[in-house]
Amino acid sequence: MIYLDNASTTRLHKDVLEEMLPYFTESYANPSSLHKLGREANNALTLARKRVRDVVKMDKIIFLSGATEANNLALKGVMHANKDKGKHLIVSSIEHESILATCKTLEGEGFSVSYIPVNRNGIIDLDTFEKMIREDTIMVSVMLVNNEIGTIQPLREVIEIAHKYGIIVHSDLAQATGKLDIPCGIDLATLSAHKMYGPKGVGALCINNTIKINSIIDGGGQEFNLRSGTQNVPAIVGMGKAFAISSAFDYGRVKIMRDKLLDRLLEIPNTYLNGDRRERIQNNINVSFLAVNGEDMIIKLSEKNIAASTGSACSSNKQHASHVLRAMNLSYEEINGSLRLTLGIDNTIEEIDIAGEVIEDNVRELRRLSPYANKYSRNIL
Ligand SMILES: Cc1ncc(COP(=O)(O)O)c(C=O)c1O
Repeated sequence: MIYLDNASTTRLHKDVLEEMLPYFTESYANPSSLHKLGREANNALTLARKRVRDVVKMDKIIFLSGATEANNLALKGVMHANKDKGKHLIVSSIEHESILATCKTLEGEGFSVSYIPVNRNGIIDLDTFEKMIREDTIMVSVMLVNNEIGTIQPLREVIEIAHKYGIIVHSDLAQATGKLDIPCGIDLATLSAHKMYGPKGVGALCINNTIKINSIIDGGGQEFNLRSGTQNVPAIVGMGKAFAISSAFDYGRVKIMRDKLLDRLLEIPNTYLNGDRRERIQNNINVSFLAVNGEDMIIKLSEKNIAASTGSACSSNKQHASHVLRAMNLSYEEINGSLRLTLGIDNTIEEIDIAGEVIEDNVRELRRLSPYANKYSRNIL
């Protein structure tokens, strides 16, 4: 399989697997147990916490089940803990569903949420953000890298503006770690291991000590009283290892392959890039082919052993078209014909050449069958 769906998840790195294995069958004790084996498991958590902290440089690392849970804890935990000060939250309109769905829940509880719009290139509007700030604004949440279009948001500027008004900054870094330097000054950060060659089902919320936050799970008080439940030691060990080795990942090579594939795809008539080209993570391509249906494309590519994804309706079990592409004001046809290709460190230039050829063939074939193709220029095929 030519795997071009690394924003969905990545293959577990072999060094990560190796480091995890003993914690299933040898060092298997509960890290809260006082005996020797328990202390061994606890030491493994301490090392993992240090490895993650060395990358993000924040005070507390709370291990939990992934970025979805971290986003829930960040927003609900902070808004609940600070509700006597204010009930207003600001988020970008292109956040991951785990942020947007949490906002809906908070709105149902009487909190108020403002959504920062993005421009046609998928970058948030800083002026609008600043104008949204109110007396009762508690927190802003803006992701560093968008998972669909790969755009890098102006997080440094967000931090600067927010801190001028005493507002807490949360950022979902799930798609950024291992690829980008993390800006200083973030108060809470969301991490996920499986986007960076670690295991699935583990992530962290990083929190600076000054932040007031409530737990959203009651129980035994593990993870600084913020995430009760016995820790998933092998997964946390794997996450620590993934963070420890991530600086050696060669994203320069990934970017060269990405640019080669992107330039080739943009030569296909009536093909457009979604999201800013410059402010873009190294591994992301998101293009729209007019008069092509994204799901048909994914199925055809899968038959040819290429894994990709689309923002078109019904993708990934979602019954609606991508909220990110809609927030950028793309037309129905552009959204319908969108294709996301996210490269990884295991891809080769040969795979990229094959993918370019197969995608071009499929675009031509799907357009030949499409009743909409006539609408566009005669050169559409
Ligand atoms: C930006 C972003 N946030 C959150 C998530 C959810 O991550 P997890 O699968 O670890 O819950 C993802 C993954 O799809 C993501 O890309």
